[in-house]
Amino acid sequence: MVVKRSAPGKVILCGEHSVVYGRPAVAVPVSALRAYAEVKAGASNQGLIIHAVDLDQTVTLRESSKNHPLIKTAQAVLTHLNLSEPDATITLKSNLPIASGMGSGAAVTVAIARALSAYLGSELPEETISAMTYEIEKIHHGTPSGIDNTVITWEKPVYFIKEQPPEIFDIQQPFHLLIANSGIPSSTREAVNEVRRQWASAPEFYNLVFDCMGAIARAARVATEKGGDQVLGTLLNENHKLLTKIGVSLPELDQLIYAALEAGALGAKLTGSGQGGNIIALVEPETRTRVQHALLEAGAIKIWHTQVGGRDE
Ligand code: PMV
Repeated sequence: MVVKRSAPGKVILCGEHSVVYGRPAVAVPVSALRAYAEVKAGASNQGLIIHAVDLDQTVTLRESSKNHPLIKTAQAVLTHLNLSEPDATITLKSNLPIASGMGSGAAVTVAIARALSAYLGSELPEETISAMTYEIEKIHHGTPSGIDNTVITWEKPVYFIKEQPPEIFDIQQPFHLLIANSGIPSSTREAVNEVRRQWASAPEFYNLVFDCMGAIARAARVATEKGGDQVLGTLLNENHKLLTKIGVSLPELDQLIYAALEAGALGAKLTGSGQGGNIIALVEPETRTRVQHALLEAGAIKIWHTQVGGRDE
């Protein structure tokens, strides 16, 4: 028996960092980029083996560190289902960029939890998968807000406030984003810790900035639901200015954003924790190719296109 499951990547449209401080954020899935998990029966008494193809890494439930995120995920599924270790092999593949703010870690966790639980005859419901993924995210990030596990598990646009039930919504008018990778790896844990240090030294200023980011995210939810027009573009631009103020942008990211806007994008900003990783640009079908070229010229090492809402291309 072979069981396959997958999970998408995500981008945060508005509200990264401020979401850690209780303000709202809006995120959308990127269905074209995914993590895949395949489970098949293994040799008798081999135990559970996980092979991460892209990382060229193999871990086993018996011998690898109990704190390894892949092992923790498998163990969490077995504990939840009250089952012992099967003789099986999980093969993981992903076309999501690592350390770029696209939720590759959370996507891998969701894909494993789905595939392993389905293989064991009892596929876990969304709520359980999302909660499990949140726990695993703590290993990667320390203090995650919970936005990644939510948007990636439900694979729907989400309006998210920490510790509140996520609001999942539909998009009436599909729109187009370009996601451009700066080639600079970003560490969510380090960026979040740095912002926390700065916040502790000037809480009044940072709270004010977070309030503004929250107001932008509220407006962005409405604009996103309607479809990505000029209003959403302006909100993305304003959000990026605030992210620059809290020190999570880099000249390389600003350069990509400037190039995208110059080439006709309706709006652009960094996405995720920043200090590297990706930027997003809101484009129209007519400007898409021009913006794409401008981003490459400005130093992007890879660009993906995604349609948000409707059928993803
Ligand atoms: O995992 P990333 O890089 O997409 O960043 C997550 C967004 C933050 O708001 C910076 C952290 C969080 O836990 O929400």
